[in-house]
Amino acid sequence: MSFYITTPIYYVNGLPHLGTYYTTTIADILARYHRLFGEETLFLTGTDEHGQKIAEAAKARGIEPQQHVDELAAVFQQIWGRLNISHDIFMRTTFPYHKQVVQDSLQRLHDKGDIYFAEYEGWYSVSEEVFYTEKDLVSGKSPAGKDVQRVVEGNYFFRMSCYQQQLLDYIQANPEYIQPEGKRSEILGFLRSPLTDLCISRPKSRLSWGIPLPFDLQYVTYVWFDALLNYISAIGYGQGPERQSNFEKWWSHAVHLIGKDILTTHAVYWSTMLFAMDIPLPKTIFAHGWILNADGGKMSKSEGAVTSPVELSELIGGDMLRYYVARDMVFGNDGNYSNELLCARLNSELANNLGNLASRSIALIEKYFDGVVPASTAHLEATQRLRDLKKHVPSLVKQSIEQLAPQQAI
Ligand code: ME8
Ligand code: MG
Repeated sequence: MSFYITTPIYYVNGLPHLGTYYTTTIADILARYHRLFGEETLFLTGTDEHGQKIAEAAKARGIEPQQHVDELAAVFQQIWGRLNISHDIFMRTTFPYHKQVVQDSLQRLHDKGDIYFAEYEGWYSVSEEVFYTEKDLVSGKSPAGKDVQRVVEGNYFFRMSCYQQQLLDYIQANPEYIQPEGKRSEILGFLRSPLTDLCISRPKSRLSWGIPLPFDLQYVTYVWFDALLNYISAIGYGQGPERQSNFEKWWSHAVHLIGKDILTTHAVYWSTMLFAMDIPLPKTIFAHGWILNADGGKMSKSEGAVTSPVELSELIGGDMLRYYVARDMVFGNDGNYSNELLCARLNSELANNLGNLASRSIALIEKYFDGVVPASTAHLEATQRLRDLKKHVPSLVKQSIEQLAPQQAI
């Protein structure tokens, strides 16, 4: 078997925090195990570098977007390096070959009639980079409570609605496609209402930091349409026969790890884009929960209190921090973070349980057996139980890792 695991490519409007660390580290743990199982493994992470949010971040620093994204992409790579992330690919959406794949894909969808021009009237959330209709809004904000701005302008649309039934059928027939189960039901529920078509452009007059539409240079590509394609452009899609065979080798094994904030863009936008492009869907999209601050709010770049994984891992040790995120959160559910919870977990499990077990065993062996492990304790029941456990544990760990349940593996 082969294993292709991806994290979201992160917006370069801030530095990695414990939330981005979480997805990336779980992906790293899974990748390392699959390598250990002797499987061919490919691990992708990277940065999402176009769109209004990034243009605004560059503007706030008074520099050109290209300079901003170059600097931030370099910082992300340094940080993942310091945190021992073992990715094979660091993908950037400003790579020229990626832009080419985006433009070719748009052109093909336009040629086959899946992209059309119309007046757009609705709302846009810059922080999520998502379009909303009037009826999506909750008390004048996006469903996640983000500010929206009114947009009335000519735009290009992808006929997402044409693929609604195909997507419903697919998710129903492939229970492992959207995980965990709760998120799968959420998407099935969402697909019970009619899908609208997806606005996939922004006029250049309002936003120039993006990939120009090949059939209308007055427009740039909507950032999600650009970003999602990274998962296939990075491994060779649409770049000639040699790269294409690399793409085919990996693609059917793809597992996308994402946070639940971007479930719709992956489960709905991405899946229907792939249908339209006649590309098979990835194996699994797994949406995990959020790391919450002590006050219950999501830890987020755009909302203040974030914990730096670099500082924290230097303070307590990188492996301790990894242990904590893999152990403390059930992969899929939300989990609270605070320094107190972290200390309590590490003290009770690593220092008290494991640490004490080791130090007491060693002390007793020294005291009663002259520092040498006794030759045979096979007659003891406890020894037999340990031996049985030893037989089963490797396959249980392997199964848990394959089922994307790191906390169970621990
Ligand atoms: O959405 N808890 O990028 P982004 C757990 N560029 N995970 C968290 C988290 C938290 N509090 N905060 C962030 C984007 N994450 C797009 C993605 S992919 C084609 C494009 C993690 O920088 C989690 O994985 O906003 C979440 O989905 C992601 O960071 C969002 O990163
Ligand atoms: Mg975000």
